[in-house]
Amino acid sequence: MSFLKQHAKLERNLSLMFVFSLLAVMVGGIVEIAPLFYIKNTIEKVEGMRPYTPLELAGRDIYIREGCYLCHSQMIRPFRDEVERYGHYSLAAESMYDHPFQWGSKRTGPDLARVGGRYSDEWHTQHLINPQSVVPESIMPKYEFLANTELDAKNIAGHLKANSAVGVPYSDEMIENALADLRAQANPDADTDGLEERYQKISIRDFDGNPDVVSEMDALVAYLQMLGTLVDLDAYKQNENLR
Ligand code: HEC
Repeated sequence: MSFLKQHAKLERNLSLMFVFSLLAVMVGGIVEIAPLFYIKNTIEKVEGMRPYTPLELAGRDIYIREGCYLCHSQMIRPFRDEVERYGHYSLAAESMYDHPFQWGSKRTGPDLARVGGRYSDEWHTQHLINPQSVVPESIMPKYEFLANTELDAKNIAGHLKANSAVGVPYSDEMIENALADLRAQANPDADTDGLEERYQKISIRDFDGNPDVVSEMDALVAYLQMLGTLVDLDAYKQNENLR
């Protein structure tokens, strides 16, 4: 009871309350922040992560430009319902090259963190042109103009450079060859040796079914098809914990 009495004193004295609140917040803050200065890396290293190819990066720009993130998140939380629906929960390392990240806070549509490889290119193209033609109850808007719009890629080297300035490991060679690599990934007949040497685990094909131009659709589908596919999750040990 005497403790409660003391506390009553504290609650009735504004300045005293302020000082003690400040103390509590300071201690809490230090406890949370201090350990971050003593560990080398807050992101666990995993095999398989690589920077986006120029075509995927361009597709990601379109994803951001069109506001896809307003309806779609890209982060599978470590809960059973999410893991059963979307696949292995997202690892921090999987978004370490994302500037800005696309975790999202709203799911009008499903999470897209592991949508790569789940559907065919034709499905994605058709779905983006007219979502209701493949999912009749869909409320997703139509993006048919992406298929008719040539991808504006003239600044792609600069974009890689900007990413490298904030820590994405793009080499000078990758930056130099950005535009050529972008075109080569959407053209199965191109010479892709250099591209494949620079980027592992990539899909090289005409993504939108129109080989004549590299369209915004090509870039966006290339991006969607790689989402969540880089890390070999079977090899990722902690996978076992969720089974
Ligand atoms: C107004 C909200 C909204 C916006 C904006 C939106 N979507 Fe969707 N999206 C949905 C809904 C709802 C679904 C589920 C029904 C369906 O499959 O169409 C969906 C489904 C999807 C799917 C299939 C996912 C799966 O696992 O079945 C993909 C891929 C997708 N959207 C990509 C995109 C892209 C790329 C953009 C931006 C160009 C976008 N969406 C913009 C609402 C939206």
